[in-house]
Amino acid sequence: MAENRVSTPYTKHLVLFSPPFQGHINPMVQLAHILHSRGFFITIVHTDYNAPHLEPRPGLTIEPIYLGLSNEEAREMDIVELILTLNKKCELPFRALIEDLQSKKGGLRVSYLITDAVMYFTQDLAEELGIKRMAFRTSSSTSTLGFQAIRDKGYLDNRGHPSDEPIPDFSPFRFKDLPFVNTKDPDSLCLFISSFTGKSFRASALIFNTSDCLESPALEKIRPQCRGPVFAVGPLNFPSSSSILPEDDKCISWLNTQPPRSVVYTSFGSLASMESSQVMEIAWGLANSGRPFLWVVRPGLINVLNAACLPSGFTEQVGLRGLVVEWAPQKKVLAHGAVGAFWSHCGWNSTLESICAGVPVACWPQFSDQRVNARLICHVWRVGAEMGREVERGEVEMVVRRLLVEREGEEMREKASELKKVVQRSLGKGGSSYEALDSLILQLMSC
Ligand code: UDX
Repeated sequence: MAENRVSTPYTKHLVLFSPPFQGHINPMVQLAHILHSRGFFITIVHTDYNAPHLEPRPGLTIEPIYLGLSNEEAREMDIVELILTLNKKCELPFRALIEDLQSKKGGLRVSYLITDAVMYFTQDLAEELGIKRMAFRTSSSTSTLGFQAIRDKGYLDNRGHPSDEPIPDFSPFRFKDLPFVNTKDPDSLCLFISSFTGKSFRASALIFNTSDCLESPALEKIRPQCRGPVFAVGPLNFPSSSSILPEDDKCISWLNTQPPRSVVYTSFGSLASMESSQVMEIAWGLANSGRPFLWVVRPGLINVLNAACLPSGFTEQVGLRGLVVEWAPQKKVLAHGAVGAFWSHCGWNSTLESICAGVPVACWPQFSDQRVNARLICHVWRVGAEMGREVERGEVEMVVRRLLVEREGEEMREKASELKKVVQRSLGKGGSSYEALDSLILQLMSC
């Protein structure tokens, strides 16, 4: 175990913990680095299952916990089942680690746990151990309201009937935008929603990786429900590395050879999986668009088939115009001048990263919060185009052209560039996210 002696300049020790999913690890690690840079001693806890590559540094230690969960077991579960299982399996080793840190002779006692909202078991544990806990919600605040609506208003029955009907009291969202997650047992979805919302609202504070300038209506609805303050400190954007898969840097040299704003970057995040028939449509849609593309086909994206199984003749047809990689340095890619559009599943990190880069988005949400995020992108901020649920090569060709070639895409790019400036202002001195981070630090210092 790494040292955490009182002889260090640190006076407060924070333990940060996220579930083993890339989209949760990235913002947690960024928050850890920000707090470390503001003088806190940090312990980042991660599970041995799906472990990220993290570098310790003085005052920032990394602690793995061992779950006894194999990749095969995890693969058999749907995402809700997996999260419920993680909450059970993490409890003992996480408790043992915290007790160990608290009893370590000469060590700095843990003053706060900052744990992902979906690792809800940590709220009861923190109360039992007499340590304060802040919950960190790494997805949009609007999607949190969407989850609440599913449970409180009985919308679970709507999941089989996605409709364009507006949801009462949740404008401008439609029933088809609700954050449903396919699960074998619908009751487990309700249990998940009650646990993660109820326990994070009970925490000493709730941190969101968002900004008031992006989601103020949702944040205003959440604030009165919480016991402590709500800090909207995002988008977190600290240069740090926390990838589970190795990043393939050759895409940057390939991007260097492409004309400005000509490339559609295509990536569906770390969790979505699809049928090989859908992969065919994506492949031929990109090929037929005639535009340069960079496509992330991560291991596990394709059900049954392995990642090498692109349609025959595809590579020959696209030649140097297209590049397929297993994992990209996404933020660097989006910031590259050659990228003109992002075809995305609208995970919240990808959404924030596209905003920070000022890149318009073709929205193809797959499940959960991604649908809410897509509606924010297309309808509220108007920096993207909505795609149909069933991917079809003709539509892919059309949407790529709309974003990269047509006037409509140019207008979205202008709006995206304005939104980027608004967000940058909120992160700068005097901006809402800047102030929220200062208030968060004050609360962490004062305990
Ligand atoms: C899912 C949810 O959809 C998301 O909203 C939730 O907050 C976390 O779980 P995920 O599929 O991982 O997320 O997508 P996203 O939230 O976009 O996160 C993916 C992260 O991986 C991003 O930070 C992105 O930059 C990174 N990434 C993705 C890479 O670094 N390289 C890649 O090739 C693809």
